[in-house]
Amino acid sequence: GGVFGAEPPHQPPHEQPPHQPPHQQSPHQPPHQQPPASSAFESASSGETHAQWLQLAPLIWPERWRLAGGLALLGVSSAISISFPRVAGVMLDECLSASPMWTPHAAAAGLLGLFTLQAALVAGRSQLLAFAGERVAASMRARAFERLLAQDLAFFDSRRTGELLNRLSADTAAVQKVVATHIVSGARGAIMMMGCALMMLSLSPSLCALAVAVFPPAVLIARAAGGRIKARQAEVQDALAASGAEASRSLLALRTLRLFSAENEAVQRYSATVDAALAQAKLVSRAAALTEAAVSFSTQASLLGVLAVGGQQVLDGALSYGDLSAFLMYTLFLGFNAGNVATTYAELLRAAGASARVLELLQLDALAADTKRKRGALTSCRGGVELRGVCFNYPSRPDTPVLRHLSLSVRAGEKVAIVGESGCGKSTVAALLSGLYAADSGEVLIDGVPLSAIDGEHLRRNCVSVVPQEPALVWGSLRENIALGAPHATESQLVEAARRARCDFAPSLWAADVGELGVQLSGGQRQRVALARVLLRETPIVVLDEFSSALDAVAEEALVEALTHALASRTLILITHRTPALRLVDRVIELRDGMVVRDECVRGSYGVAPASVGKTPVGRKYE
Ligand SMILES: Nc1ncnc2c1ncn2[C@@H]1O[C@H](COP(=O)(O)OP(=O)(O)OP(=O)(O)O)[C@@H](O)[C@H]1O
Ligand SMILES: [Mg+2]
Repeated sequence: GGVFGAEPPHQPPHEQPPHQPPHQQSPHQPPHQQPPASSAFESASSGETHAQWLQLAPLIWPERWRLAGGLALLGVSSAISISFPRVAGVMLDECLSASPMWTPHAAAAGLLGLFTLQAALVAGRSQLLAFAGERVAASMRARAFERLLAQDLAFFDSRRTGELLNRLSADTAAVQKVVATHIVSGARGAIMMMGCALMMLSLSPSLCALAVAVFPPAVLIARAAGGRIKARQAEVQDALAASGAEASRSLLALRTLRLFSAENEAVQRYSATVDAALAQAKLVSRAAALTEAAVSFSTQASLLGVLAVGGQQVLDGALSYGDLSAFLMYTLFLGFNAGNVATTYAELLRAAGASARVLELLQLDALAADTKRKRGALTSCRGGVELRGVCFNYPSRPDTPVLRHLSLSVRAGEKVAIVGESGCGKSTVAALLSGLYAADSGEVLIDGVPLSAIDGEHLRRNCVSVVPQEPALVWGSLRENIALGAPHATESQLVEAARRARCDFAPSLWAADVGELGVQLSGGQRQRVALARVLLRETPIVVLDEFSSALDAVAEEALVEALTHALASRTLILITHRTPALRLVDRVIELRDGMVVRDECVRGSYGVAPASVGKTPVGRKYE
């Protein structure tokens, strides 16, 4: 458990290569850069890795027939390959005999037919297995993304988007390679090696013993190198994820970088992470090269041995030419396949290292998501809100209390403003109310029911709508953005919500793309789209967090006017620094350091705009 969290205590520290002292910084690295590999993902021990691979079982199971078919074809085509040297040896002896039954041409023509069949089998096998691999990878991507989106917001507070993206793309590709390529070539190599060994045994047991004797040392070397490869590749993958994170963070803040001419620094930070990945990749390729060299040398050595000893046996008349040539071919096949198996083994370990992280994604807290789903729904939400002695700090900053025993209550249909200095916890109250975070102690209640008993999705769909302080637009057009929380809204409802929220700017964008995060809109326009979203949904509780901060006075007046009618029967929690908006409310609650320091009715009832509000101390102070 806790794979994503802190490193398990029994975990040995990452070993460092001898020439690279711990936490050494590359020369390009700016001094304030954290070491890229220490990402949010921590290493899992090998025991956990096995459990992680087991999670692939349900993804692979639907592909079982394809995989079985592919492996069957693989078996038949390997058998044909294995029979070839033996058949060729028999033919050679036959052609060399006193009264040959066939000419070499006729024999070759016969074999050509066999090889054509084999080619067809290979094509079928290859396609079946590759397709199975693609499908497994596709379903893995989808599932990992689903798990990711189900996580609490706290999970994303300390993780970087680019890194998560990399997990979804690069690491999944590694798993795909395992299924589509490595398992296949490993199985083929193993089948071929066994077949060759059997044939060699039947041709000459003594020569076989000689040929195989050289392999055990090579296997030992390959194993030793393999362990290193796996650990290093996990680090390569971490470093790549870190560079993905670096790139996305710069791209997301590109406007700011350009304004402050900080692109160069961004490039340097990115190159530093790329260099870190490169350094680890170098170590991986060194270990892989060692394995390959060991196996290749073993093959040649065993060929030489067979040639010397077998050649003597032919001279002595103990072995035929055909058998010796078949034997030599088997030795070559064996060596070639041993090389393949060794490379595959190295690649497999590499992929295992690479996929460890995405497997962690798959394993993420499915349990927590399930318990959340088991929570109840409010049959009818009237809109009463209460915070009772709520203490809260953000999980990413456990030692900074944000709300301290905060208590406040808002009756159904009441209109209340929350004011206070920047950073006093106003938006945090909105986040708790909408169930994005859970209170550490105390309770948040809707109609007297604690949020811990209400399903979060139900809460946000049916009870609370929020205009966040920095509203972001998502993919698509203005229309799609307004319909975000109400996919079944009719066109006339959409138009009406847009009209009420004064989204009458840029009619051309109604059906056209608004750019990533809505960059083609102004700040005030984005706020109005967010407001339209909320007006479209008929939730009894509405939270507006600085909904008018980017608007001009005229537009703000108009919106306040429109909201007076639109929100008439709903509970309103208005977070604001501005006076005109205060006309919407009949009570003002002031927070300081996460506590209520003032809670008073402002003169005038809802709907009647008391001109004096602007002159109250609250109004002046927060204008
Ligand atoms: N996601 C977060 N992770 C960690 N700390 C956070 C997070 N969001 C806010 N904080 C911290 O919590 C405190 C309260 O933040 P909050 O956003 O609630 O303030 P606010 O009253 O809305 O301020 P403003 O008027 O500037 O919007 C701040 O000190 C802030 O640094
Ligand atoms: Mg705020």
